[in-house]
Amino acid sequence: MTLNTTKKVYFVAGARPQFIKLAPVLRAMRSYDLDVRLIHTGQHYDFNLSDIFFEDLDMPEPAYNLAVGSGAPHEQYSLIIHRLGEIFSECRPDLVVVVGDTNSTGAAAVCTAIHRLPLAHIESGLREWNKSIPEEINKMLTDTVTDLLFCPTPTAVANVQELSLRGNVYHTGDPGLDLVFGYMNQPVQPSAYLSGLKLPPQYIYATSHREANTNSKASLESILKIMTGLGYPVVWPMHPRTTAAIEHYGLQDYLSHPDLIVIEPIGFWDSQFLLQHSKCVITDSGGLIKEAYCHGKYVIIIDHQTEWVEVLQEGKGVVCGPELNNVLKYIDHLPSTETPNTALGDGQSSEKIARIIYDFVNSPELREKCLHTKK
Ligand code: UD1
Repeated sequence: MTLNTTKKVYFVAGARPQFIKLAPVLRAMRSYDLDVRLIHTGQHYDFNLSDIFFEDLDMPEPAYNLAVGSGAPHEQYSLIIHRLGEIFSECRPDLVVVVGDTNSTGAAAVCTAIHRLPLAHIESGLREWNKSIPEEINKMLTDTVTDLLFCPTPTAVANVQELSLRGNVYHTGDPGLDLVFGYMNQPVQPSAYLSGLKLPPQYIYATSHREANTNSKASLESILKIMTGLGYPVVWPMHPRTTAAIEHYGLQDYLSHPDLIVIEPIGFWDSQFLLQHSKCVITDSGGLIKEAYCHGKYVIIIDHQTEWVEVLQEGKGVVCGPELNNVLKYIDHLPSTETPNTALGDGQSSEKIARIIYDFVNSPELREKCLHTKK
């Protein structure tokens, strides 16, 4: 009888930004003799928040779908921990890999830890130092129990050092940007949906879906005032959370403003197309902040802070809060963004991550070290 010694590496993801970061890593993993599986938590389930990225980015079908759906954070956490735990009990992967800072990330990390399995975290070490942000809780929980900390930026590395986290630290860059670097200088073809919209020649690409901006009428109305008060057309692919909140607070009148072009949530390539042709970007999304930076588009952040501090340090973006008057100060005087933007990654992050994963699962010494709870 021959024993199957191929190591099992299970990736867990469930929300839109996670698919973008995982797609190039899963592609890089194909070069290694490993049993790689993707577990979809089902946190995002709409075609435009999930399947479209599998199609756009040629991702493998998930081996499992936990189908947790929408719900309060404690509901998403408990369902993920329960359903993932059953898979872990049966299969005992040699390494679990989580990505980003969503509820799927935090819940999968906790589940991995209680099953005493080794854990890697892609996008480790980012902090906003503010516990009122749901993603910050997921970051804190995840990094505490992570064995392989894949940090996207020098600031993230400095943060994990300051926090004295016990895992092995690697400065890998952001793998989601490998895709952007790969195609940045080539014109992207829009989908039939996007071409059918006949967008104006000059527009601002905008998004907003953060809880802080959508969970009160006052903050959401401030966002809508920005999107309709700039004197430029604004193209806004709207997250279902935002659409539901606008309806809930009775703010639909803003949507008929002539400058506002609200569209369906879009896939990866349509988003790159909008970026390439935009005047600038206005957003509270971490993913779009990074991609705008790579494309050399100035980004106005309609949030009170960002973990992507390199963008601010290099003068490629500004934090304006959800305040129209702050945004207006910049919109007609956008600073130049022409120098190369590589502080968040060099296009090789996925290759680095795949290699480290392969070496880890094949090293009994490194795996043994995971049991140590102090450095
Ligand atoms: C989550 C992440 C956020 C990430 C975002 C990307 C957390 C805490 N937040 O926020 O960091 O930037 O994903 O989109 O995990 N909904 C749908 N269809 C779906 C999924 C959600 O309509 O396929 C609606 C539901 O009304 C749901 C709401 O969006 O209640 C919020 O979804 P949820 O997954 O809880 O958080 P996001 O706002 O998407």
